Amino acid sequence: MLHGPQPGPVDDDALSAVYPWPDTTDKPYVRAMMVCTLDGAAAGDDGLSGSVSGGADRSVLRAVRRFADVVLVGGGTMKAEGYGPLKARPEDADVRRDAGQAPAPVLAVVSGSLDLPLDPGGFTDSDVTPIVFTTESADPARVEDVRKRCEVVQLPGEKVDAEQVVQQLHHRGLGRIVCEGGPGLLHQVTQSGLLDEADITIAPMLVGTDKTPSTPMVSDPGTMTLQHVLTAEEFLMLRYTRTTAGTGDAEPTADDVPSAEQGAAS
Ligand SMILES: NC(=O)c1ccc[n+]([C@@H]2O[C@H](COP(=O)([O-])OP(=O)(O)OC[C@H]3O[C@@H](n4cnc5c(N)ncnc54)[C@H](OP(=O)(O)O)[C@@H]3O)[C@@H](O)[C@H]2O)c1
Repeated sequence: MLHGPQPGPVDDDALSAVYPWPDTTDKPYVRAMMVCTLDGAAAGDDGLSGSVSGGADRSVLRAVRRFADVVLVGGGTMKAEGYGPLKARPEDADVRRDAGQAPAPVLAVVSGSLDLPLDPGGFTDSDVTPIVFTTESADPARVEDVRKRCEVVQLPGEKVDAEQVVQQLHHRGLGRIVCEGGPGLLHQVTQSGLLDEADITIAPMLVGTDKTPSTPMVSDPGTMTLQHVLTAEEFLMLRYTRTTAGTGDAEPTADDVPSAEQGAAS
């Protein structure tokens, strides 16, 4: 069941069409993809998001990634969640190529320590070489190590600045950015006013927040407009977009992105 502009069932193949991307030629578009429980936890008792996720939530994650340019994560999430390689989906190749995209999204990681799992079989085996954003003061030996398997971008400052990360990605033509967290990186993206969309899954469980990193208060929270609610397996998948003053909302429309059905047909 879908509550929103197109009420009715949505099968897996059509899911990407209800998470459209806008034209990002002039401006990047940053969407967050997170799951949380009824009591606001971002991880279960194993400290991972998988234990509070479910099949429907994972379908939405895949649909959102499908035509993204970038999957952006913090180093903490990369390590904790053990990200594997991002691979191209053959059935999407033509649609991505027609849109001027690489065959698969680029995995972009933000890390100061560069203490990342670089072993073969992990994220460094992605179809597109991952990009690691770090600081100019990062340990040179670690920079050298990471550079063997990833592109490394060193930015000024004590911490990597989220705004510069998004700018750098956009300059490379990578404007469709899905930030998959964790809470630490998402906080920085939000605080920098970069968040255009929040795709939040509510999981039907209460687990406590002991394993969820706390983040500082954002003093100037943005307002979001609800675009749709999907529900399956007792989960709610909410799509919110940034509310633009005066216009009510600023959501990209389904015309802005090739649909999943077009992908399957080509
Ligand atoms: N529920 C969900 O949807 C979801 C999604 C993602 C993660 N999670 C969970 O959230 C937890 C991780 O949360 P977290 O907030 O710690 O994750 P995070 O934001 O991915 O990681 C924080 C770490 O990433 C690096 N980092 C982030 N921003 C940086 C910056 N601006 N400059 C330099 N380094 C930066 C730092 O580590 P280094 O310098 O050591 O790299 C920092 O300690 C895990 O339990 C994970 O399973 C849940």
